[in-house]
Amino acid sequence: MLELSRLRHNLEAEVCKQTKKAVEHRERMERLSEEAVLCLSKAIDAKDKYTNGHSEHVAKYSQEIARRAGMNESEQKDIFFMGLLHDVGKIGVPDTVINKPGKLTDEEFALIKKHPVIGFEILKDITEMPGIGQGARWHHERYGGGGYPDGIGGEDIPVYARIIGVADAYDAMTSKRSYRGVLPQDVVKKEIEKGIGIQFDSTFAKIMLEMIEEDVNYTLQESEE
Ligand SMILES: [Fe+2]
Repeated sequence: MLELSRLRHNLEAEVCKQTKKAVEHRERMERLSEEAVLCLSKAIDAKDKYTNGHSEHVAKYSQEIARRAGMNESEQKDIFFMGLLHDVGKIGVPDTVINKPGKLTDEEFALIKKHPVIGFEILKDITEMPGIGQGARWHHERYGGGGYPDGIGGEDIPVYARIIGVADAYDAMTSKRSYRGVLPQDVVKKEIEKGIGIQFDSTFAKIMLEMIEEDVNYTLQESEE
């Protein structure tokens, strides 16, 4: 009996040790993937000299919108990654076009408009996170139609892409461009309001408006550097 009890105790200790190891390994792998995605998003932003930390901002705003919309933690994490990678397709667009200070020609704009599909193609083979390319492909669609690349509208636009669309527009307006500074908060607010049902899903645009309302010191903008 004593021997049996000793063996059982040893077995339990071994199971405990192995489980701890497996958990540590899983956590390490998760951290590694997160860091790799973050690095990639920084590489995307480095290509564009007018966007400073854009991908990370979009990821954070999208996650917050998702949280306020009642999505669970795993969904929030997914959208954070999708936000980080939404512009990954810009890697396939010439730097001269991305960084052109003046107005784009039709041909140049056509090249820019390719980035959602290029991004989707880059991301579509990530089997561990199927759907990661949704944000990349559909973040320039418009709720009322008329966006690109597929010209879909309403609920046909995947929910994550509808959220990223709002966050992306917000960050574009609250970041400096070669031709303008950060837009005043009331202007940004009006633009989001104007876009409800036309450019944006009303649920998520209203959440963004709520976030603007709470941001009394206008901290959610690109800082002066
Ligand atoms: Fe984009």
